[in-house]
Amino acid sequence: MPHGPGCSPLPLLLIASLTLLVATHRVLAAPSTLRELAQQRGFHIGAAVAIPFLADTDYRETLRHQFNICVAENAFKMESLQPYRHQFNFNDADQLAAFAQTNHLRLRGHTLVWHSQMPWWLSHGQWTRDEGLRIMEEHITTVMQHFKGKVYAWDVVNEAVSDQAPWGVRTDNFWGKTVGADYVEKAFEFARRADSQAVLYYNDYGAEGAGPKADAVFQLLKQLKAKNLVDGVGWQSHFESGWKADKGYVANAQRLAQLGLEISITELDFRFTLPSTPEKLATQAESYRSMLRFCLSQPNIKAMVLWGFTDKSSWIPHFFKGQGDALIFDQNYRPKPAYDALADVLLH
Ligand code: G3I
Repeated sequence: MPHGPGCSPLPLLLIASLTLLVATHRVLAAPSTLRELAQQRGFHIGAAVAIPFLADTDYRETLRHQFNICVAENAFKMESLQPYRHQFNFNDADQLAAFAQTNHLRLRGHTLVWHSQMPWWLSHGQWTRDEGLRIMEEHITTVMQHFKGKVYAWDVVNEAVSDQAPWGVRTDNFWGKTVGADYVEKAFEFARRADSQAVLYYNDYGAEGAGPKADAVFQLLKQLKAKNLVDGVGWQSHFESGWKADKGYVANAQRLAQLGLEISITELDFRFTLPSTPEKLATQAESYRSMLRFCLSQPNIKAMVLWGFTDKSSWIPHFFKGQGDALIFDQNYRPKPAYDALADVLLH
């Protein structure tokens, strides 16, 4: 090919190579994980961690590359942290805190006061109200001070509101029976005192959308907020595949925002009856898509945390006979259609 004066092939070649270099760089630099995509939008996407799985390289690598927030599935519960009275065991919980710190993931603390997964010495003892309060205060104070600066938000109380009429705080569980219905308020008082910087959450299921339980949780939060004891509400969101966000979720999120509370989706999964089929996976992907779209449409929703991330480790098959595959990675850590749906929402 002839070249005119001043049009030597060298600059053309140089321009072509530079263009290629820039294009390659763009591809390489383009955000490619959920974590990177979420980061660009100032959103937190995360997962619950089963500590024994941290030894598995695929598990660890997926966790740190894909998510920017995490929580322990069991290691921060009272039976794990205070197996014997006054004797705390932080080994597993510290392992997750170190992992989160090294890999720059935010860490949620789940959960300080719950009527389940309590240590044997506590659930099998006879306690007066004052003793119950003292035990609660010691636990909250010791744990929160241990993780000060490492755990940014705590589920101070988990699942305290009844599932049936007359709704309201349960008096039929361990804490309700031992302390009384004000156990929730007391727990928040102790938590505020233990770490004034921590974000304090109330966490529950069945109170995400419209309904009497959501109303009861709202009333409880209103009382706590009036005393400046609570900052956020966790919507567990253990749903069946096929779920879609409706007007009830929007209305509930907005009234909580007006109250000055943030929301986190804290335990998300969408289960279905096994065996899996491409159709079931597609339906599940749409549920995940709907949830993330909803989250991003509400400014007070700060995070979306899944209850696990690989179908290799999930509570669902143990608790719902014949159901499973509720998460976004399969048993071999391959992304499922649900993963692609989340990436797609974050990209657009
Ligand atoms: O501690 C024993 C361990 O010693 C033994 O080796 C192992 C053998 O299976 O069992 C261990 O206990 C299990 C524990 O998880 C730790 O793996 C319990 O049997 C099992 O019941 C327990 O289940 C946990 C459940 O909470 C308890 O209520 C699930 O992993 C955990 O995903 C689930 O999480 C809860 C949230 O905290 C609150 N919201 C609901 C959610 C789902 O139930």
